[in-house]
Amino acid sequence: VTEAATTKKVFVKTYGCQMNVYDSQRIVETLAADGYAETATADDADLVVLNTCHIREKASEKVFSDIGRYAKAGANRPGASAPVIAVAGCVAQAEGAEIARRASSVGVIVGPQSYHRLPELVAEKARKPKAVVALDMPVADKFAKLPTRTRPRSPTAFLTVQEGCDKFCTFCVVPYTRGAEYSRPASQLIEEAKVLAGQGVRELTLLGQNVNAYRGAGPNGAALGLAGLLWQLARIDGLERLRYTTSHPNDMGDDLIHAHGEMPKLMPYLHLPFQSGSDRVLAAMNRNHTREVYLDLIAKLRAARPDLALSTDVIVGFPGETDDDFEDTLSLVEEVRFASSFSFKYSPRPGTPAASKADQVAEPVKAERLERLQTLLKQQQLAFNEQKAGRVIPVLWESRGKKDGVVIGKSPYLQTVEAWADASLIGSITETRIERGGPNGLYGVAVGRAAGTETQPPMHGVA
Ligand code: 5AD
Ligand code: SF4
Repeated sequence: VTEAATTKKVFVKTYGCQMNVYDSQRIVETLAADGYAETATADDADLVVLNTCHIREKASEKVFSDIGRYAKAGANRPGASAPVIAVAGCVAQAEGAEIARRASSVGVIVGPQSYHRLPELVAEKARKPKAVVALDMPVADKFAKLPTRTRPRSPTAFLTVQEGCDKFCTFCVVPYTRGAEYSRPASQLIEEAKVLAGQGVRELTLLGQNVNAYRGAGPNGAALGLAGLLWQLARIDGLERLRYTTSHPNDMGDDLIHAHGEMPKLMPYLHLPFQSGSDRVLAAMNRNHTREVYLDLIAKLRAARPDLALSTDVIVGFPGETDDDFEDTLSLVEEVRFASSFSFKYSPRPGTPAASKADQVAEPVKAERLERLQTLLKQQQLAFNEQKAGRVIPVLWESRGKKDGVVIGKSPYLQTVEAWADASLIGSITETRIERGGPNGLYGVAVGRAAGTETQPPMHGVA
């Protein structure tokens, strides 16, 4: 009891991608080893960690307004001292000096490859008036020094297998914020995966900015690609589902394509960004592939796994994008038919080649194109979800819904599924009859649920 009273508390806020979600979990684990307990609000925190995203301007701007908000709340806190504010992640890496200048309330600035040092950085800050800055990029060092994974709260988990990017698409900050491509050794990953499986994780999503470029040292010393790594992980008892994200078309090797047809644990879902349907724009983006290469790839993937759910990222309004170029993007979407997607207006990022191009597209044009694109993509997502109505599919139940008696899970195609069912299902995979597909997910009935429970599916609340 006395121990609880003296425990320091940390609040971590995560912005951006799934890799940041993974990093935030590791940050919590690192600080737990230093005596910190995680808290759900900044109100009672001794340490506030903002794990930031630099990918688009909106994402970065949010960080500066949040810093101000947390600093003010901390200063007004009755009877306690203000929390130390640490800015971590990609904004720290890209704008560390500016943060130190603009936000005097920030105590620690730590890049994505140095967060394993947070305990020592926070201690150093206590002795210094100025912000402590750690922006080195020794990525191998980080993974070697992180503590063992602690019990996750969910039957699904992320595992970063690869970080960084050598591709230098002309719109993207990742090669600058996350550094050069690095693949973790397979033995380290198999170890981490076994720990997670032992803690009840049923579904593992392998993460990397260029995950399908994974090339790590295999268990026998020889280099291993992503397909080889997946086959190794598929042997771990208890792990029932494997996924990976995010991929580049040029690294989609035949072994990986075939794995989609041959590996039962590999889920029928693939996130494969195409960015633009116009060869002219693809060249200007330095994507190093054409529209045709992408479409051929999709055909091969569908030949290997006919029911594969495809997801993608698209950018509209890249510098120099004409109406015709944009029509090419729409027609590619028409041809592929995506199950889900993320689409963005081009956002000029300081230091990237495209940001200094003269032929920037006007904001209203970007907005109109995004609207048209998203209308089409939403229709496709709804159509994909509706197709599943009437079918029985395995669902991994993950959490309770907002409404009593509702549980939420994931289909093999990464759709959210809601059903009236007992919460004891959480953590297991059950065959589920899908009654309806909606814009954002599926509504089902867990087959074999206790008799006499309500059968009407909930009609709202899907994330
Ligand atoms: N502007 C808009 N979207 C971007 N993305 C990356 N950089 C930018 C940018 N400068 C998108 C890409 C990428 C996804 C993670 O974010 O579509 O695949
Ligand atoms: Fe954002 Fe990219 Fe950094 Fe992820 S890696 S946090 S998406 S900038």
